[in-house]
Amino acid sequence: MDNFHHVMNAGDLEPGQSRAVEIEGVSVLVCNVKGEYLAVENRCTHQNSALEGGRIRNGMIACPLHGVLFDLRSGCGRGPLGKVPLRTFDIKLVGDEIHVGKSAAATADA
Ligand code: FES
Repeated sequence: MDNFHHVMNAGDLEPGQSRAVEIEGVSVLVCNVKGEYLAVENRCTHQNSALEGGRIRNGMIACPLHGVLFDLRSGCGRGPLGKVPLRTFDIKLVGDEIHVGKSAAATADA
């Protein structure tokens, strides 16, 4: 047993796409960055807008509401509206399956 949940399969998410999944009451956004899978909380730290559907480019996601960029690996935001980092979640691939850690990793070192 571990703390990871199978949320989807790799083929379900094309590069540049993201999809929100629910893990223990938390909406988590799984993103495909050129074949690398990354997960952050699906809630912008600026004004709590969902990040799902935001444009993904160069490992960053743009919040659909005001456009703040967040690094999908570290959770760090850009600019004055992105001072508070996103929560990030661990991901592991088990064959074709994408598993997301249910405990949010702290981003204190981000
Ligand atoms: S709510 Fe995301 S940038 Fe403002």
